[in-house]
Amino acid sequence: MNRVLVVGSINMDLVVETDQIPTLGETLLGQSFTTHPGGKGANQAVAASRLGATVTMIGCVGSDVFGTDLINGLNRENIDTRYVRITDKAATGVAIITVSQSENAIIVVPGANHALMPDDLFAAESAFAEADVVISQLEIPLPVVQAAAELAARHGKPFLLNPAPAMPLPDSILQHTTLLTPNEHELAIVFSTPVDAWQQSLRLYPAKVIMTKGRDGAWFTNRNSELQHQPGFPVRAVDTTGAGDTFNGTLAAFWGGEMGEIARLACAAGALSVTRAGAQGGMPNREELFDFLKQQSF
Ligand code: RIB
Repeated sequence: MNRVLVVGSINMDLVVETDQIPTLGETLLGQSFTTHPGGKGANQAVAASRLGATVTMIGCVGSDVFGTDLINGLNRENIDTRYVRITDKAATGVAIITVSQSENAIIVVPGANHALMPDDLFAAESAFAEADVVISQLEIPLPVVQAAAELAARHGKPFLLNPAPAMPLPDSILQHTTLLTPNEHELAIVFSTPVDAWQQSLRLYPAKVIMTKGRDGAWFTNRNSELQHQPGFPVRAVDTTGAGDTFNGTLAAFWGGEMGEIARLACAAGALSVTRAGAQGGMPNREELFDFLKQQSF
């Protein structure tokens, strides 16, 4: 299995379950309030680790109870946290998540995630040298993502980038990116194209982009720019938070295999992840993933 280096965010998710998402100015009663470990970086690290990858995380949390809890949680998931810095200059990142009918609305307050600096990565350069694959997202400052991409390239390592939350990306990052993993809305923002122009964008970057499309699964192109589709796996969704992160963590864990097969594993893991509450709650381990796939007809 791969040695995966994750450069990314670590959040505490503050989750309210409600019958409907309130509109502006409206007050509603919710059904429950729970806290769950989250953050796109940490979620992807946990997804990869549960599948058997050896995972190291670079990130930053505050010197507060959430920060301590989150680091302890990552350690329990067998993730090497020696490069997770604790700062007293900002509070641990949080995500305020409203879950309704299995869908969600999220506000992220980055806090300490935005205290992560390129120097943190240079101090951890040996982790880049030791990794088989590096993965990052956009909940940390863009210069840090840039440094991650450059360090991965310097050490000849594949760099996977999940452009979430989306923003237009400079060529200096794209040129070092081995695989970009947006959903259809993120793809449109990254390339400043209309949402329905996704097929053209995928063809323009052969074998360089895999786009998730919710229940429809994932789309990508081969080296000849031919469109490929991995259908999604039907499941009963409880909470879709973290499905994209499970998809990404699985790609990193199995990176190096044939793209169609990796996409199938990632879609299956993503489907399983939505069957339980919390971003990390439903992420499967290796056995659960392969058992699930044995029951499928495609
Ligand atoms: O992708 C889901 C994650 O986005 C949540 O865990 C939340 O922390 C936000 O970062």
